[in-house]
Amino acid sequence: MKLAIILGTRPEIIKMSPIIRECERQALDYFILHTGQHYSYQMDGTFFEELELRGPKYNLGIGSGTHGEQTGKMLIAIEKILMQERPQVVLVLGDTNTTLAGALAAVKIHIKVAHIEAGMRSYDREMPEEVNRVLVDHLADYLFAPSESARSIMLGEGISEDTIYVTGNTAVQAVYDHLEIAERKRNALARLGLKKKGYFLVTSHRQENVDVVHKLRGILDGLQLIHKEFGLPVIFSVHPRTQKKLEEFGLGVGNGVKLIEPAGFLEFLQLEKDARLILTDSGGVQMEACILSVPCVTLRENTEWTETLEVGANILAGCEPQKILESTRLMLGRKTDWENPFGDETSATRTLAVLQGGRVVKQFRTAGH
Ligand code: UD1
Ligand code: UDP
Repeated sequence: MKLAIILGTRPEIIKMSPIIRECERQALDYFILHTGQHYSYQMDGTFFEELELRGPKYNLGIGSGTHGEQTGKMLIAIEKILMQERPQVVLVLGDTNTTLAGALAAVKIHIKVAHIEAGMRSYDREMPEEVNRVLVDHLADYLFAPSESARSIMLGEGISEDTIYVTGNTAVQAVYDHLEIAERKRNALARLGLKKKGYFLVTSHRQENVDVVHKLRGILDGLQLIHKEFGLPVIFSVHPRTQKKLEEFGLGVGNGVKLIEPAGFLEFLQLEKDARLILTDSGGVQMEACILSVPCVTLRENTEWTETLEVGANILAGCEPQKILESTRLMLGRKTDWENPFGDETSATRTLAVLQGGRVVKQFRTAGH
């Protein structure tokens, strides 16, 4: 069986890495098609290098653009490659424009689609990702859900039970595999002059936050309030979209907030693990904080990662400065002994077993970390 792995952005490379490694280990017939949605070294090349992944066979070099332009260009180019290669199954992950274009191109030429991280919903159609998620789930032949609640959501939308497999999230393996490597190869805290549990870590890149001046300003003001109250440095890893918007809006950051360029995955994992608390609007970072037992304040009004709220690892704060401060106070007072709700390190093997005609074992091992 020939597989095509389609990816294009930072989180897709990271969360596909366990699948890619497992394809290598089992010597499966597969290839990687990179749309080029992310292309800066810090958002793309660094992850293939650090995670020691086989490079893409094809890189379409689509780059940035409006949603229609970007997705449309991808669709045209992906179709050509799929017609040439004729894989039996296309694997896509998550909710980006790459995910949508990959799934749509495949389904139209009768190639089976496997959607990893299926069944996530924020119920907020303002998010471009929400539209992508819903569409891809309803196009796919195999739906790999990270949790039982994702499965229930899809059943509620009329998606056939036979197509849904609860396999956990490949992020669990990506985190644990690379944390060990990070400890050997990097020392992000020393590089940035930080102490364990002596700083806050921040990321923010959601279009509906950073493209709106008062929301981005609200986040920056909130960070300032936190620095004043707790006296700890605030380390903000700045996504290129956010960098562009900070410049365009002429916004600066106050005392105690340090902007850093996007970190490689190894350094970022260290920064996450040793942070006192994480503030983010990233999906992947909310989940990783929960896996790593670090409290999280989410700079959004809603989240598709509802398990993180249920186990007490996360809270929704939005972008209003006072609410960000109050949420931080509240989370700092909570215990961090929740259980990781996203399965264990077997997600990639289970996923590939299903695609090869095997059955998925529903019970996870408890992640004993
Ligand atoms: C995309 C995904 C989002 C995901 C995020 C991960 C969609 C709709 N959005 O958002 O779901 O959370 O990736 O990081 O698919 N840019 C660069 N270099 C790059 C990539 C982007 O400078 O390598 C800049 C460009 O100015 C570009 C902007 O960032 O216009 C936004 O990039 P884009 O890929 O369109 O969306 P993201 O915000 O990265
Ligand atoms: N990440 C990273 N360096 C950074 C910030 C994030 O390696 O400076 C990783 C993070 O560990 C997670 C992924 O990027 O695995 C999340 O990607 P992002 O926030 O861009 O997208 P989202 O998850 O919101 O789609």
